[in-house]
Amino acid sequence: MNSIIAEKLSIGYTTPLLTHIFFKLNNGIHVLLGANGSGKTTLLKTIAGLIKPLSGKILVNNKEPYNLKRKEAAKIIGYTWQNPYYGFIEARVIDEIKFILKTTGIEGDWEIVEMLVDKNLYDRDPYTLSGGEAKKVSLASVLVADQPIWLLDEPFNELDYEGTITLIEIIKRARKKNKLIIISTHLVPLIDNVKPDKYLLIKKDKRLEIGDWKQLDDDKLSSAGVLTRRIICGSHA
Ligand SMILES: Nc1ncnc2c1ncn2[C@@H]1O[C@H](COP(=O)(O)OP(=O)(O)O)[C@@H](O)[C@H]1O
Ligand SMILES: [Mg+2]
Repeated sequence: MNSIIAEKLSIGYTTPLLTHIFFKLNNGIHVLLGANGSGKTTLLKTIAGLIKPLSGKILVNNKEPYNLKRKEAAKIIGYTWQNPYYGFIEARVIDEIKFILKTTGIEGDWEIVEMLVDKNLYDRDPYTLSGGEAKKVSLASVLVADQPIWLLDEPFNELDYEGTITLIEIIKRARKKNKLIIISTHLVPLIDNVKPDKYLLIKKDKRLEIGDWKQLDDDKLSSAGVLTRRIICGSHA
């Protein structure tokens, strides 16, 4: 069983964004919600070990992620970038996808690559890809390593209909492989399709509320400044 434990965790940069975070998550699909700039990416990067906690503790499978060697972290935690271009380091798409397998020695789950990336793109420079193509390559280049823990930072951004359905399938398939998955997104009605277990909602008072997905209603979402399931534009009159 995988676990992520936060104990009196404070995260942020020079000043804290969120303080006094306590939670324990196990296998399943958990959804991280919050307004723009509320700290979703910062929390995911802290769990991934890319940012050091300001104070308190974060444990991923009983290890402090910030103190793991990058190669060790890459075997356990798959963090997919909100902005796909941030992650690119290779000159060809196929080398970008193989990079994590080379560095970790993992065989990889090539079905994920086949589901996401058109083979015609393999020889392209990742920086020349369209936004949606880049997002798919970026997702494939991390998730190919089939880590037990996935942190997906707004993974649906830029994806078209087909790409969105494919990603939903990948997430459903990952649940069967007993992963612990956290997905940050603004698309509550879409993510309903994977029957999430828990929600993590960053509130306006900068507290992180955790609860069962079934308990998440539009009142909770709107009071946190998050897109609701039913969206009303303009006057309510
Ligand atoms: N490297 C950084 N240095 C200082 N502030 C940052 C840095 N990265 C992000 N921020 C700020 O931290 C806040 C939270 O950012 P982020 O976690 O990316 O929010 P979200 O993903 O919820 O939209 C934002 O106000 C953002 O501008
Ligand atoms: Mg973000």
